[in-house]
Amino acid sequence: MTAWNHGYVTDSPYTFSYQPAQTPGSIAMVCAMAGVAWQPRPGMALLDIGCGRGLTVNVLAAANPDWNVIGLDYNPAHIAEAQELADAAELGNAGFVEADLAAMTDAELDQLPELDVVTIHGVWTWVSCRMRCVLALCGCWHGG
Ligand SMILES: C[S@@+](CC[C@H](N)C(=O)[O-])C[C@H]1O[C@@H](n2cnc3c(N)ncnc32)[C@H](O)[C@@H]1O
Repeated sequence: MTAWNHGYVTDSPYTFSYQPAQTPGSIAMVCAMAGVAWQPRPGMALLDIGCGRGLTVNVLAAANPDWNVIGLDYNPAHIAEAQELADAAELGNAGFVEADLAAMTDAELDQLPELDVVTIHGVWTWVSCRMRCVLALCGCWHGG
């Protein structure tokens, strides 16, 4: 039987880090440099796949109260800490989903709202080939 973490390190939590490359302002700048017209808009929904301990999600939610910002990670310790921070900061617009992206069913994916932006940072080079295929099919913004 395959372990839930597919060999990924889970016995110690990832660093507690904020990733500015994942902010929609940064994405808009990169889009502009590539000649793609895109701007963040009010009421957006964002998903951060492999959100780690959730600092980026929580900061984005705090700075943009009208956005719905969701973090997804399969490490229960990361999701618990991320949710704890959102609760302590009373961020009603930050949410966290504990799930293995590579194993999510259609029904589970349907639980997510319609998304404007999907980001992923620091995951691509750490995960299996199968997971990279899933991410590519999702059309994720790859921030590192
Ligand atoms: C290197 S950390 C990056 C964390 C954060 N995105 C950052 O850049 O600070 C990779 C994260 O991806 C999560 N992860 C790896 N494979 C995953 C999978 N199949 N489904 C969901 N999360 C996954 C890990 O638990 C970990 O939190």
